[in-house]
Amino acid sequence: MPKVLVVDDEEYVRDILAQMIEQTGDFEVDTAKDGLDALKYIKDNEYDVVFTDIIMPRLSGIELVQELKRTKPAIPVVMVTALNNLDAGISAMREGASDYITKPFKTEKIKSVLTRVLSERNIMKAVSGNGDDRSSFKVVNAELYLKLSEINSLFAISLEIEEITDNRELLKKLPEMCTKLFKVDKVVFLIYEDGMLHYYSSIGFPYKGSIDIKGSVFEECLNDCEYRLLELGEINPLDKLPLRSQMLILPLKIKDEFLGVLCITNRVDGFNFKEDEIHIALTFVHKLLLRLENNTLYEITYNNLINTLKTLILTIEARDKYTKNHSERVTSIALEIARELDCSEQERDAIRFGGYLHDIGKIGVRDMVLLKPGKLTKEEFEEIKQHPVIGDNIIQPLGSFPLERLLIRHHHERFDGKGYPDGLAGEDIPLIARILAVADTYDSMTSTRPYRKGLSHQIAVDEIKRCSGTQFDPAVANAFFHTKTGKGGSYR
Ligand SMILES: [Fe+2]
Repeated sequence: MPKVLVVDDEEYVRDILAQMIEQTGDFEVDTAKDGLDALKYIKDNEYDVVFTDIIMPRLSGIELVQELKRTKPAIPVVMVTALNNLDAGISAMREGASDYITKPFKTEKIKSVLTRVLSERNIMKAVSGNGDDRSSFKVVNAELYLKLSEINSLFAISLEIEEITDNRELLKKLPEMCTKLFKVDKVVFLIYEDGMLHYYSSIGFPYKGSIDIKGSVFEECLNDCEYRLLELGEINPLDKLPLRSQMLILPLKIKDEFLGVLCITNRVDGFNFKEDEIHIALTFVHKLLLRLENNTLYEITYNNLINTLKTLILTIEARDKYTKNHSERVTSIALEIARELDCSEQERDAIRFGGYLHDIGKIGVRDMVLLKPGKLTKEEFEEIKQHPVIGDNIIQPLGSFPLERLLIRHHHERFDGKGYPDGLAGEDIPLIARILAVADTYDSMTSTRPYRKGLSHQIAVDEIKRCSGTQFDPAVANAFFHTKTGKGGSYR
């Protein structure tokens, strides 16, 4: 009778899994409460397969796999992982684990994993016993290779999903990802709205319309259905023609909200979808939904944050009525220059957000200095010069705004290196900060201050021309002269 060891630090999970394994066939099951405990059992017993949790005290599941691969490489190890921690399961496969199962457990999955790993185990035993069963060994090797290549594609696609922070882009790329993952050449993603499914993105499908889901196979997807597999000959719900190969329909749902469906068909090798592949498909959908949900949360948090910071800027500007809307105007001029210079989308985004915030550090400058009508003393000027550093320090704890921080910190640097706070020169000053310097100076010169009336457009432009190469980057100044504002357009 094959012997199985179940390792999990939670007694409840351990017992359920042990019970389910016993129900699938004739197995003798032992249980251990963590990796170290498991090693003791393995030392005294001959096990045919080990099921282990990943996160455990003392010795984790991954460490247990590593130890077993070193000392008892023939024992297959199956990882037990939560659906939201699949990456750990996949990493464990890379360390040498044979397979993984996810919680909540399904008897069918446990049975198929056990059958597979035990047949591998028997062949391994035969091979190491008499060394004759080369053909079986080859079969297992080929299966292992296939399994590993599936896991590797899933891993690569998971990484790809992780990197896309824009939900529209992610949904556009879905069909392409599916063709890589499932060896199919027809995929369509339909988005759900008001009882209809609308075409969103596809590969290999000429279909571009909308479908009323009432009475269609998709109606089942609204309810409790993980996936639906249509067989060869059944009617394709998209073009109403008989299917020439199986179609896998995967509904996408976040919480209880129905987002849409993915239809995958036309396998290039002509085979049906295997149980393992459907499992991979569900894993893929789960991963995708997590990303979509995270992106949405991130967007909400990001927008809240931007609004809070904008309010903060308005508060600063309200302290000084002469600088009212200064940040907004500077941002718009800087964007004009950025367009002229063909800056990247990323740089323009940084200007859009960072431009608003460039003087946020002024919150740390006292009113009597900030609003002083006359000439500043040396000490007072030193205090004003702190505002780019204070601004940088305000944004730093928010994380993930590297370009914006550069813009805020360096918008008072000069091209000749005589600016502040770091005295950077030439192209050592980030381009977006060089751009903002021109926009900021132009708007400051043309704004009316308590101690002087705003200068005319022509005088301001002449001044920027005069300081091109010393205070300003000549290329940026030149680009400014080509913008609507720089040419004398009325932007106010
Ligand atoms: Fe400033």
